[in-house]
Amino acid sequence: MKFIILPFIFIALLITLASINETQFNHLSNFRKCTTSSSSSNNSISILPIKSPENDIRILLGIPTLPDHYDRRHFLRLIYGTQSVSGAKIDVKFVFCNLTKEDQKVLIALEIIQYNDIIILNCKENMDKGKTYTYFSSLPDMFKSDSDSDSGASNSDSGTYPPYHYVIKGDDDTYFRLQKLVETLIPLPREDLYYGYVVPCPSMDPFVNYMSGMGYLVSWDIVEWIKESEIPKGHLVGPEDKIFGEWLKEGRRGKNRFNAKWHMYNYPEPPTRCTHELWPDTVAVHLLKTQEKWIQTLKYFNVTQNLKPSKLYHIP
Ligand SMILES: *[C@@H]1O[C@H](CO)[C@@H](O)[C@H](O)[C@H]1NC(C)=O
Ligand SMILES: *[C@@H]1O[C@H](CO)[C@@H](O)[C@H](O)[C@H]1NC(C)=O
Ligand SMILES: *[C@@H]1O[C@H](CO)[C@@H](O)[C@H](O)[C@H]1NC(C)=O
Ligand SMILES: *[C@@H]1O[C@H](CO)[C@@H](O)[C@H](O)[C@H]1NC(C)=O
Repeated sequence: MKFIILPFIFIALLITLASINETQFNHLSNFRKCTTSSSSSNNSISILPIKSPENDIRILLGIPTLPDHYDRRHFLRLIYGTQSVSGAKIDVKFVFCNLTKEDQKVLIALEIIQYNDIIILNCKENMDKGKTYTYFSSLPDMFKSDSDSDSGASNSDSGTYPPYHYVIKGDDDTYFRLQKLVETLIPLPREDLYYGYVVPCPSMDPFVNYMSGMGYLVSWDIVEWIKESEIPKGHLVGPEDKIFGEWLKEGRRGKNRFNAKWHMYNYPEPPTRCTHELWPDTVAVHLLKTQEKWIQTLKYFNVTQNLKPSKLYHIP
């Protein structure tokens, strides 16, 4: 009897395999790509609405970090990957200079394969000696949309110009609430815009002086200007946010300015002239230097309220 059944099982298996036709196979092999970068799932770092109309705002949120800060990147992916956004497409990317260690070449490459959210600039790691300049001035070439190059533009829609309407430099201890950010951007110009939390802290005039490094945003034309102008090239050393403001002043750029204070502020404790209470109309909270501060902030903004009930877990 066994000798008769075995061939049947074998044939059944062959039929099953054959029925997984090419279409389905392609679906299977695309699965990882879809779930991590391009689907409309709100678990993905690339936050896409279901429909992506032409007039959606495209934003690059670049966060300078160091290659070895694996845990911080993991944490921030969790923070931004769980936010959903409508009316905009926001790419969150981590930015650092040349890798320096053997293990980084393996681990960072694996992260890129998994998340495709890393930009490696041609520079040596530094805080206030031009990394910000290298970041902004490298973007136009990285995201140039000539069809023959298969460059880093994979996450932005190739062929569209500008690749991003706005580019942000954000700190890794800043919590951005992406939907609120988009709401504040919708009425603003898409050219010659400089947006952020104006320094000094008591000032409410965005033309005096510059936007805090916690997170500032410029329109794409300013990114291109930074690449082309001689002004930033000759003025690289110093606190990155301050010299950024000085470039724009000297180059007479950023005639459209938006002071996002008090949508953006430093965490309330310890209180200073730069802090504000957590409140619903928040775009960004800065100086989240401890786990405790992150947790308080995330709790305040009810980030886990959409957790679906399940028999698989119980969270009191
Ligand atoms: C492959 O499978 C899909 C989905 O089951 C089906 O729509 C399609 O017609 C099949 N293609 C071929 C060539 O059999
Ligand atoms: C960074 O790495 C690239 C490629 O490995 C190399 O060509 C370049 O000289 C390096 N730049 C610096 C500043 O070390
Ligand atoms: C968080 O949820 C509570 C309870 O539903 C609500 O009262 C509060 O306004 C929410 N906070 C924010 C910032 O949305
Ligand atoms: C996830 O996104 C879908 C649409 O893509 C939406 O219907 C759903 O409510 C979102 N879920 C959460 C938890 O935000």
